[in-house]
Amino acid sequence: MVRSDGPAPVAAAAATGAPGAAEELLRVEGLHVTYPTAAGPLPAVRDVSFTVARGEVLGLVGESGSGKSTVLTALMRMLPRGAETRADVLRFAGQDLSRMNERAVRQLRGRRIGLVPQRPMTSLSPVTPVRAQLRRLTGLDDNRIDELLTSVGLAGVTSRLNDYPFQFSGGQLQRMLIAVAVLAREPELVLADEPTTTLDATVQAQILRLLVDLKDRLGNSVVFVSHDLAVVAQICDRVGVMYGGQLVELAPTAELFARPRHPYTQALLNAMPARHARGERLRAIPGTVSGSHRLPGCGFAPRCERADELCHRVVPEPRVLSLSVARCHHMEEAE
Ligand SMILES: Nc1ncnc2c1ncn2[C@@H]1O[C@H](COP(=O)(O)OP(=O)(O)O)[C@@H](O)[C@H]1O
Ligand code: SF4
Ligand SMILES: [Mg+2]
Repeated sequence: MVRSDGPAPVAAAAATGAPGAAEELLRVEGLHVTYPTAAGPLPAVRDVSFTVARGEVLGLVGESGSGKSTVLTALMRMLPRGAETRADVLRFAGQDLSRMNERAVRQLRGRRIGLVPQRPMTSLSPVTPVRAQLRRLTGLDDNRIDELLTSVGLAGVTSRLNDYPFQFSGGQLQRMLIAVAVLAREPELVLADEPTTTLDATVQAQILRLLVDLKDRLGNSVVFVSHDLAVVAQICDRVGVMYGGQLVELAPTAELFARPRHPYTQALLNAMPARHARGERLRAIPGTVSGSHRLPGCGFAPRCERADELCHRVVPEPRVLSLSVARCHHMEEAE
């Protein structure tokens, strides 16, 4: 793979924190994850670097298959057997995550790093009443469970917790799992992997509000993953855009929307419904991300209107421009 002569990735990564950031909670530098597949090794995450400050909400956005869930799974140290992970730095609250033994990682999971899953229904057993599952997941007694559910707006369901998951709505189940992940142990970091994707728009907005309210109350940090830039924009302080396993742009939310630097970010913004007059067709991004990791240069080049000979030959390294970090040879042209 050809590399450009730009600033060293680590130097660029140093600029990936929030401006004037509060105390750093998480630092990821040069994270790579490769899955073994029948077609050979698949580099699902390539050289990803970011930080999360205490109390910050960082969004990770990108189309399906861009590596978002893999990043979260690597942070939880829950990748499937055979997956290879390496990172220059993987530090949580001053501790080196990559060097921790399994026992120490288990101590962190749930207690200091909580996970809100994508599909609440499939995260619970269909054959066990909800109350028994909440007891097992939280280790709390019934009174405390009722208190937790009341504080996530579920006072109305505490009388029927001997029902099974299918007897509750998707929004109610997601509130329960947020109570488990966020309130039961008050973890410093909450990883939310597309937690509203399966819910309708009104319930989605309520769940987003709940996550933000809890964050404001508890002061925890959140990494919020979504394929929808509009959702991320509502609650995130900064947004990272992933493409083909790479973080191609990272910026404060307002900056990303006002001055998107990477052509892929620009294409995502152009495709957002609110940016289009009513009745106008959405602009789809022609082409596919598939196979981008095998290209010798920029993975986005086959879909990029700005691609030139350099783009097809040399992998762009992360570079800083004003408040943004982006992987593009021609990011200045967005000015
Ligand atoms: N367990 C796995 N084994 C092999 N490949 C996987 C596995 N999990 C994910 N992948 C592949 O890794 C890439 C990134 O997947 P993922 O992290 O799930 O992306 P996203 O969450 O952005 O949709 C995709 O190409 C996906 O097919
Ligand atoms: S490096 Fe070149 S091909 Fe890649 S996004 Fe930038 S302009 Fe497009
Ligand atoms: Mg995913």
